[in-house]
Amino acid sequence: MKRTHTCGGLNKANSGQNVLLQGWVENRRDHGGLIFIDIRDRYGKTQLVFDPTLNDETFTKAKELRPEYVIEIEGSVHERPSGMVNPHLKTGEIEVSVNQLAILNKAKTPPFLIVDDVDATEETRLRYRYLDLRRAVMQKNLILRHRVAQTMRQFLDQENFLEIETPYLMKSTPEGARDFLVPSRIHKGKFYALPQSPQIYKQTLMISGYDRYFQIVRCFRDEDLRADRQPEFTQLDVEMAFVREEDIRDVVERLMVEIFARIHNIKIERPFPVMTYDEAMAKYGCDKPDLRFGMPIVDITDIVKHTEFKIFQMTAEQGGMIGALCVKGAASYSRKQIDLLNQFVLDMGGKGVLNAKVGADGWESSLKKFLTPEQEQALNERLHVREGDLILIIAASKAEVQRYLGELRLKFGKQENLIPENSYQHVWITEFPMFEYDDEADRFVAMHHPFTSPVDSDVEMLDTNPELVRAKAYDLVLNGHEVAGGSIRIHSSEIQSKVFSLLKISKDEAQEKFGFLLEALQHGAPPHGGIAFGLDRLIMILAGRQSLRDVIAFPKTTAALSLMDESPSGVSPEQLKDLGLRIENTKG
Ligand code: AMO
Repeated sequence: MKRTHTCGGLNKANSGQNVLLQGWVENRRDHGGLIFIDIRDRYGKTQLVFDPTLNDETFTKAKELRPEYVIEIEGSVHERPSGMVNPHLKTGEIEVSVNQLAILNKAKTPPFLIVDDVDATEETRLRYRYLDLRRAVMQKNLILRHRVAQTMRQFLDQENFLEIETPYLMKSTPEGARDFLVPSRIHKGKFYALPQSPQIYKQTLMISGYDRYFQIVRCFRDEDLRADRQPEFTQLDVEMAFVREEDIRDVVERLMVEIFARIHNIKIERPFPVMTYDEAMAKYGCDKPDLRFGMPIVDITDIVKHTEFKIFQMTAEQGGMIGALCVKGAASYSRKQIDLLNQFVLDMGGKGVLNAKVGADGWESSLKKFLTPEQEQALNERLHVREGDLILIIAASKAEVQRYLGELRLKFGKQENLIPENSYQHVWITEFPMFEYDDEADRFVAMHHPFTSPVDSDVEMLDTNPELVRAKAYDLVLNGHEVAGGSIRIHSSEIQSKVFSLLKISKDEAQEKFGFLLEALQHGAPPHGGIAFGLDRLIMILAGRQSLRDVIAFPKTTAALSLMDESPSGVSPEQLKDLGLRIENTKG
């Protein structure tokens, strides 16, 4: 007989039916002369009952069963006696009385129990990932991932996009990280680079006339890892020809609406808000603001620079900024809590944070004596202060104030439970600076990547004030995470060459690295642009998880190790010889 149902498929309507199930033993309970087993597969679990009066031989065999044994059973479906129904389980109304049992395979005692609130370190879970992936919560995440990827494919197919694969063995792409290199055996001493993204290929495809391309594609970046970064990760990569920024935003927003409707049954409002980079930095102190709660940074420099308070005077004179946050209802914070806030800022490298509690008679603060009633009034209005609020003030350079207050804001968001559950706030961040100065390398580097077009009205400043040039770059931010980033590209080879020279990429170097792209740009390149989603990040948010590792089947640790297969690993002397390589130093 074949499997008739999965372990998540039976309910009251199947009562009386004879069924055959296959799966893993979750647990065994011997109870009142009966044996109860939960049998599990990726669809769910079903309670089995072994009764010696029904089949003594089967009952005896059931005593051998241990967690994670693989079994096949035949039996009949019964409604559970009233009071024994489990409303939390899809199959909770029934149980199966087992007539025949076959043990398909035994299993070693697992290093941890396969349950949702698993009692094992992440290291152990990653080492035995095949067991970890049996847990319902992990299966839910991977199923969600599959559904999101399918939704993307279907949506983009309907919109006339073509899914086209690009090479993994390629020349380096400049996305700002280090490359993973693959030595060539045939061409000793030469290396392929694994793609940091398919950026150059997708632009080439536009030149070839495939005006709507997408790919769900693995990207590789050798960079310092964090909870939301993996050395190999997946992008939904998109490129379109004959478009402007708005057209790309339109497709992406409609895709997000579709994903949220299908996955969470939530209607997402569009158009999404658009905020310039400068505004995001000024109000939220970062370029990926979490808009699920308010509490913007407020610039109070103009109000306080004329007070008697020396630090304010000096900061303003030196071109710095005095910024404030108004924390609603936090005047009740104790001395100790405020000391912790101060320490938080000191730990970030700041000089601390000033505070004022707002009571019935106005500000209660050491700053009060420096403020005229008019100044206090002006501050109250600017900060929308109410009695019971706590005001935090930092005076430093603009960049420092934005960073420290931005971090404090996020800390309060969590600490004061200001972030509503199941809320999803999208925002587009636009008009990024084209370049940022890399002090170490003593040159400009592209903030997005060097193929990004400058804003039309800023092109002239490429020669005079490159630091002021804005790029036609945009990020999609969701709940404080950068889930996608893209840009309109340069399609003129002259501007492309100019940008390379500003980035101190010499003609020869540009030719050697991207000669084919520069050449292709001269063969009828249409205006084009695109975007790439961090698929893992998007799934992490949709699944309500804090780490990418929870939504990737076989992730790496923060030390870039795969604990299950123990990669990276050494290779044999023969392999090295074939490749013409010699290992000189394995330390450091
Ligand atoms: P970008 O470098 O912004 O753009 O990458 C696009 C998105 O990929 C995700 N991402 C990552 N996710 C996990 N681990 C990482 N190490 C990692 N690095 C990036 C982020 C990010 O928003 N070629 C351009 C896109 C374009 O211009 O069209 C690019 O790769 O969510």
